[in-house]
Amino acid sequence: MPFWSRKARPLSKLPMTTAEGFAPAKVNLTLHVTGQRADGYHLLDSLVVFADLGDRLWYEPGPRLSLEVTGPFSQGVPADARNLVWRAAEAARWTGCIRLEKNLPHGAGIGGGSSDAAAALRDLGGPTSAALALGADVPVCLSSAPQRMTGIGEVLTLVPTVPALNMVLVNPGGAVPTPAVFAALAEKSHPAMDEIPAVAEHAEFIDWLSCQRNDLEAPARSCAPQIDAALTSLNQADLVRMSGSGATCFGVFADPGTAREAALRIGSLHPTWWVRACRTIAGSAGQVPPYG
Ligand code: C5P
Repeated sequence: MPFWSRKARPLSKLPMTTAEGFAPAKVNLTLHVTGQRADGYHLLDSLVVFADLGDRLWYEPGPRLSLEVTGPFSQGVPADARNLVWRAAEAARWTGCIRLEKNLPHGAGIGGGSSDAAAALRDLGGPTSAALALGADVPVCLSSAPQRMTGIGEVLTLVPTVPALNMVLVNPGGAVPTPAVFAALAEKSHPAMDEIPAVAEHAEFIDWLSCQRNDLEAPARSCAPQIDAALTSLNQADLVRMSGSGATCFGVFADPGTAREAALRIGSLHPTWWVRACRTIAGSAGQVPPYG
């Protein structure tokens, strides 16, 4: 049985009527590691976008906080204060029942718990100042727009010129612990991203993207050799890269049909992998508040 289709926990009979939230998958189009702070955290320069697929949340106010985790990736996800969603609700001083549907693989470099936590913090009216304490990736997940992320993840700038991209996400299985990948990174100081193009035709954007990097790809491959096969499977894409600290890799395609065909082909060749075609959310004007 594929690792992502283990039997989901049965849904409870809770009246899930109040409010619904969405925690999209986060994709690091680039991830440059530019230094390391004295406390061990790494300085990043990353272009982050969000996909039109993700985890879902439902909120039902009540006297006590409780959490129910369902969905294809619910196994092993704690339903208590160890879960970032729980801690986001506490930061918002909100009580009630939260149902979290885990559709995304976790420990996978595509946001997972960080996007869930950001959705709960936003949906429950929590202070954005609480985001960074929940995790370095949580501030960027408060908005679904393309953003340039620097600092350790808390310095954010909207990048409205990033076009919507047709993608295939491929996760070959096996959670990859982020601290282990950073620890395996030998050189901590790499060049920052090149200036992001102001005009964003697909071909020009892909040309620019192909000159950027994910500096965590080499250390992640040494920790998780299955990433090699995931990258190879996407070789018909216009651009192939790993997201975050892996193991999820993405391929960018010119149109949705080609992406869907590639997803079907890769999925049939590797039935135990998690493979999804998606489209990213395009840039838009606006502002992100300071999260630091
Ligand atoms: O902040 P978060 O708990 O999500 O980070 C998980 C781990 O990833 C940290 O403990 C650290 O080892 C590593 N990390 C880092 N630099 C960052 C983000 C994460 O070293 N900017």
